[in-house]
Formats: sequence, C-alpha cells, structure tokens
Amino acid sequence: MFQRFRRNRLNSHLRSLVRETHVSVNDFIYPLFVRSGEGIKTEVSSMPGVYQMSLDEVLKECEVLKALGIYSIILFGIPDVKDSIGSDALHDHGIIATAIREVKKMHPDMFVVSDLCFCEYTDHGHCGIIDHEHETVNNDATLEISAKQALIHAKAGVDMIAPSGMMDGIIETLRESLDLGGYENLPIMAYSTKFASGYYGPFRDVAESVPSFGDRSSYQMDPANRREAIAESVEDEMQGADILMVKPALAYLDIIRDIRENTSLPLAVYNVSGEYAMLKHAGATGLIDYDRVLMETMIGFKRAGADIIISYHAKEVATLLA
Ligand code: PBG
Ligand code: ZN
Repeated sequence: MFQRFRRNRLNSHLRSLVRETHVSVNDFIYPLFVRSGEGIKTEVSSMPGVYQMSLDEVLKECEVLKALGIYSIILFGIPDVKDSIGSDALHDHGIIATAIREVKKMHPDMFVVSDLCFCEYTDHGHCGIIDHEHETVNNDATLEISAKQALIHAKAGVDMIAPSGMMDGIIETLRESLDLGGYENLPIMAYSTKFASGYYGPFRDVAESVPSFGDRSSYQMDPANRREAIAESVEDEMQGADILMVKPALAYLDIIRDIRENTSLPLAVYNVSGEYAMLKHAGATGLIDYDRVLMETMIGFKRAGADIIISYHAKEVATLLA
C-alpha cells in the first residue's frame, strides 16, 4: 500500500542525519560549591555525586572537568561566617571572590560564572537584606549591596555574573554599576524567570541556605503563572540581560518554549537540585534506566528551546557522549 511516511525508510544513519535536536558537552555549565579549608570534599546526602569542596579540591575538580570537555562552571560560595547582610560576599577576600581569583589563575581556560545572591551568606537565609518591620526582603537595599557584590566578582576576574535573587530592577542596577566600573564587556546571565519551588530543597542543604523564617514567595514567582513568567524574562531583556534563564527546568518546559518564542536572547535552563535528586534516587533503586532517562531529559530541555543547561549531571552526560 502507498504510504507517504514510513518510519522504516529511516535506517540508523538517516535517523541521525534528520535528528532535530542535539545535546553536546558544550551546552553545559557545571555547578560547584566552595567552602573554606583544605582537603575538604563532603558529599551532600540528598545529592549523591555532589560535594561541598574546599578551594584546593575545586582546583583539582577543574582538571577532571576539562578532561571531560567541560569548560564552564558556576560557583557558589559557602562562607564560614554568616551575618544579617552577608558581609562575606562583600569583600575581596570572601569565599566567592577568592575562589574566582584562584580558579582563573590556575585555569584561565575555564569559563567561570558566579552566582550572585545573598542567601548563602546571610544568617537568616534570605536572598537579601531583611526589612524587619515587614519581615520581608528590602528590595532596594538589596540592589545596593548586589551592585557591590557584582564589582567584587568582576574585580576577581569572573567571566559572567548570574544574579539569582530575582529582586526587581536587579539587571539594570548591575549593568549600570558594571559599566561605571569599567566592566562594559562583562555579560550578565539573569535568573530571569525563577519560580518559588520545592525543587530547590536539596540545594538549600548543600548551600546551607534554608530561610530561618517565611519563604521566598515575595521575590520568586508563583508556579501557576505563565504570562508573568514571560513578562519577567522580557523585562530582564529590556534591562540589559545577555542571557535569560528558566528555573527549575523539568516542570517548566512550556515556559522554556514560551520564552524562546518571546525573546531573541540565548536561554539557559537550571536543571535544579530536586530534579537531580529524583533521577539519582530512581536510578539507584533500579526503577528506571538511568542513563537513558538522563539523556531523554536533557534532549527535552534542548527541544523545548534551551541553549544552555546548568546541571549537576554535566559530568555524567559528558561521559555518556564521549
Ligand atoms: C540562590 C540559588 C538557589 C538555587 C540557585 N541559586 C536556591 C534558592 O533560590 O533557594 C537553586 C539551585 C538548585 O536547586 O539546584 N538564590
Ligand atoms: Zn538567593
């Protein structure tokens, strides 16, 4: 019988010629958590394969990453001392500034992105300065210290900053302050559409950033809102972001597609800690074919419209692709 389409006509060679979506090791940014000390490499119980590391271990890890073909990392700092304004993030010898400087010194070919936020540095675990009268983050006071933090990362030699606090006006503030400081060419990857999500649970263990009261819903988005999700990213594009982001990834594939179609900027997705933990634990108990589900998930992000995938799975993906 005549049939216009027969899948049987596609042998494996032709199937790969017509494949529409590809995952490459170049798509990935790998997150690293730096703390002070020496020889420290502590696995996070909820995230097998993810560690808090001292700087010497981070430098070694960069060797491993490069051998796998991964040349992009995003750094998170875990300071020894936390206080109400996150002071450790505000001076040149804090954990994050030191880590940026040392990684760039030892690995100039590594592209270093810094997460710019305060929740890892504050004793209350919120993403900025607290307005005690209202028991919420003071947006504008947080903008001021964020601008300071950006200049500290820039001075330390970071290749791109990634503000993750979702304060209103953050991108414009940072762009202005970087430009005034002579860093016109330093790109900003905005956590532009970031939902208030239960999927961040394991991250807050590793970054020791569980809020001591309340939640982040005054500055992160309601998962139910699609129009607002698009508007947030479009707003950051107008404020001068170079790359946009959707976070988390798995439960928000429609939003990735929406933003892909409503802006012309490159788009990153953050495949977050809870997504990683779910897959890891399902794989460990043999409930799923781990490698297969992993690659299917990554293809899903790319197919939805992602250019960049920030993922704790990056090393595994690189190994599978090799
Ligand atoms: C800090 C930040 C968070 C994540 C990245 N940057 C946590 C949060 O907003 O609570 C989450 C990453 C993950 O879950 O893997 N603002
Ligand atoms: Zn934060």
